[in-house]
Formats: sequence, structure tokens, C-alpha cells
Amino acid sequence: MRILETKNYEEMSALAADIIGAQVLLKPRCVLGLATGSSPIGTYQKLIEACRQGRLDFSQVRTVNLDEYCGLTGDNPQSYRYFMDHQLFSQVNIPRENTFLPDGMAQDMEEESRRYEALVASLGGVDLQLLGIGHNGHIGFNEPTDSFPPTVHQVELTESTIQANSRLFDRIEDVPTQAITMGVGTILKADKILLIAGADKKSIVEEALYGKVTPQVPASVLQLHRDVTVITCREG
Ligand code: GLP
Repeated sequence: MRILETKNYEEMSALAADIIGAQVLLKPRCVLGLATGSSPIGTYQKLIEACRQGRLDFSQVRTVNLDEYCGLTGDNPQSYRYFMDHQLFSQVNIPRENTFLPDGMAQDMEEESRRYEALVASLGGVDLQLLGIGHNGHIGFNEPTDSFPPTVHQVELTESTIQANSRLFDRIEDVPTQAITMGVGTILKADKILLIAGADKKSIVEEALYGKVTPQVPASVLQLHRDVTVITCREG
């Protein structure tokens, strides 16, 4: 595991975008696993800049996102589809049909889970998976639990995640209580993993990287993956 400490959010974002950009340069038809949340916004801005300057070409890239809220349509500004469309996809030259997220509106979540797991596999797996981390150590929406979920599945969000994510909603009652997420097993199948974490995540990052590997701290499982890069920042 490589741990790179940067000065601030700006530097963390630039470095993360360099690593993702290198992946795209090395393999133009790569599969990127992408994340939502505040952490990757700066990274996406740097990727947009690089694309606008002609340094990166996303025309052959395929993307699979980690997760989606249940019950929100893609045109709902709180959905992760909307987030990705606005924060990245509409601003780089990626064909929209090459971008995939789980369908949070699916009638049958078990079937949708199987479909999304199979879709990731059918693309040939993920070359580079970008991750943020929740304050309770969640990755994607894999919340602390008794065993590591192997595949895509529906989850009940914990109170702390609902609280944390309510900052982006008008009212806490509007935060969905369920989501569909890649499992920890799905995430671990990626060839390379890049975790980015702001200064506010310092203590959970230490617990995840240096503590016991346990499903109670889902990100701790990353200690077992052969190619993980973690970028932290000292401030901001
Ligand atoms: C959400 C997402 C996670 C993300 C986490 C942290 O719960 N499902 O994938 O890592 O939030 O978000 P932030 O970067 O905003 O702290």
C-alpha cells in the first residue's frame, strides 16, 4: 500500500487526477470505477481541465459507479447519476452510454444487484477504482456490519451516514434510507484502488489502514488488496 500525504484538498485532487489520467493514457479503453461525495469533486475538476486542454481523451473510457440511492430518479439533483452527469460526464468527452451506475429505481433490487455485478464483470472488471471513505469507515455504501458483503446488494443506511449526507439535502427526512452498492468483494476485484480522504477523515483512515481488518470498519479490508494508493491531506 502506498500512502501519499498532500498539503491540502487542492494538492490531493491534482495528484488523484494525475493517477487517473495516467490510467487513461496507458489504457484508453480502460474501466474506471468512480465515486461520489465531496472528496472526488476536486479530482473531477482536474480531469475536466486536462480534457479541455487536450491532455486526456475519455472517448473510449467506460465508467462504473460504486453506488446509488434507492428511490431517486437520475434527474433528481440528489441522485448519484445526476451528480456524475454534472460533476464529470457532461464536461468531458465520454459517451454517456459508456457510463454506468446501479439503477436506484429498479423494481426488483435483487435482480438489479445481479445485473450490475454481471455488468461490471462483462466490461472486463475495473482497472482503477476511486474511493472515498465515510466517517464510520464505509466504502461505497458498505456500512459497518458482521461480514464483508461479497457482491452488489441493497443496504439500509446507518443513522450516521444519513446524518452526514443530510448536509446535501434540504431536510434530513429527504435523505433516502436505502441504497444499492457494489459489495466489498466487487470493490476488491479492481486491479488498482485509489482512496482519497480529506483531513476530516484522519482518524478513520488511521483506524482502517493500521487497525484490525474487520467488517466493522469496511475500509480496513483494503489492507488485503495488492495495489492500493491512499492520498490524504494535512489540511482542508
Ligand atoms: C457517501 C458515498 C461514499 C463516499 C462517502 C464520503 O456515503 N456513498 O462513496 O465515500 O459518502 O463522502 P464525502 O467524500 O462527501 O465525505
